Amino acid sequence: MSDLKNKKQILLTGIRASGDIHLGNYLGAIRPAIARQNDFESYFFVADLHGLTTTPPAEELKKNVQSITAAWLAAGLDTKKTILWRQSDVPEVLELCHILTCLTTMGLLERAHSYKDALAKSKTVKAGLFLYPVLMAADILLYESDLVPVGKDQAQHLEMTRDMATFFNETYKPFFKLPKALILDDVATVPGTDGRKMSKSYGNGIDLFAEENVLKKQIMGIKTDSKGLADSKVADEVVIYQLFKLIASESEAAEMKRKLEAGNYGYGDAKKELLNKILDSYGAMRKDFTRLISNPGDLEAELRRGGEKARQKASKIIKQVKEIVGLAS
Ligand code: ADP
Ligand code: TRP
Repeated sequence: MSDLKNKKQILLTGIRASGDIHLGNYLGAIRPAIARQNDFESYFFVADLHGLTTTPPAEELKKNVQSITAAWLAAGLDTKKTILWRQSDVPEVLELCHILTCLTTMGLLERAHSYKDALAKSKTVKAGLFLYPVLMAADILLYESDLVPVGKDQAQHLEMTRDMATFFNETYKPFFKLPKALILDDVATVPGTDGRKMSKSYGNGIDLFAEENVLKKQIMGIKTDSKGLADSKVADEVVIYQLFKLIASESEAAEMKRKLEAGNYGYGDAKKELLNKILDSYGAMRKDFTRLISNPGDLEAELRRGGEKARQKASKIIKQVKEIVGLAS
């Protein structure tokens, strides 16, 4: 009885291997996940199969996997207590993806924002992108996840995951639990340097682990209005301040707000403060990242170790799922 009571809930999240980690990824998904790693049975992965949906050159995809792995570790992921793996090392996820595909209506997938956005940009959308939410649901359900830390842009994918779990449970028998998204209000949508949502695909990121000169260029490139040095600014509308507030202490943020509103404090001054705050707060993490990324053999070893553990869990679940749907296992 006490065993059941003490059983930890399952926390899971993945980061698509599609480029370098930016502040939005870190604040929206990685930091909330790591902050809870000890309170849950935790599963964190590098979503290389999702990265494949844009068919980057093979070398680029591999490099992205390394950099996301190094980012997870530099951010404090403890592989003694959690499982870190590369999505494609557990092929069972593709079996579950197919089973869920058979239960999912075209209509549900056609409503996905990710698909609609892709359709708006180009008439020829690849089926891999169309099925993106099904693979994501398979990731989540295969590990019996309870809580999934993500940014707000993934909220719809989590709702779709719950829909797919429900289709399965109603078609066959109650089996999957319905996972919940963990979306923190203040970092639900971290703004990018142009004021839109920070995203790898908009090229408006502040790349947390980039070299200092790159980081500086990105921060100095944050869009501002034409107010001059002497003018009073509306702090809440200033992207530099919106970002600073997410990293600095309450009193530091209040001080920047006061200075912006008082005037005689320019956007350039605020940008310098933001850069220094990032270098200050994340200096140790950035150093760790540099060390980790220069040892790809160690990163690979971590992923393999984690992959074996993840696979043990996944194979247990897929065996039961195949039994339920009538496939040999
Ligand atoms: P991107 O949009 O840059 O390609 P991903 O899709 O790889 O980012 O996102 C990885 C994780 O980071 C997801 O949980 C996503 O919700 C979160 N995330 C991405 N951008 C932001 C943002 N601007 N604010 C908050 N969370 C974000
Ligand atoms: N779709 C997520 C993104 O684009 C990445 C991802 C894949 C994910 N599988 C997941 C996130 C499972 C949480 C849980 O950011």
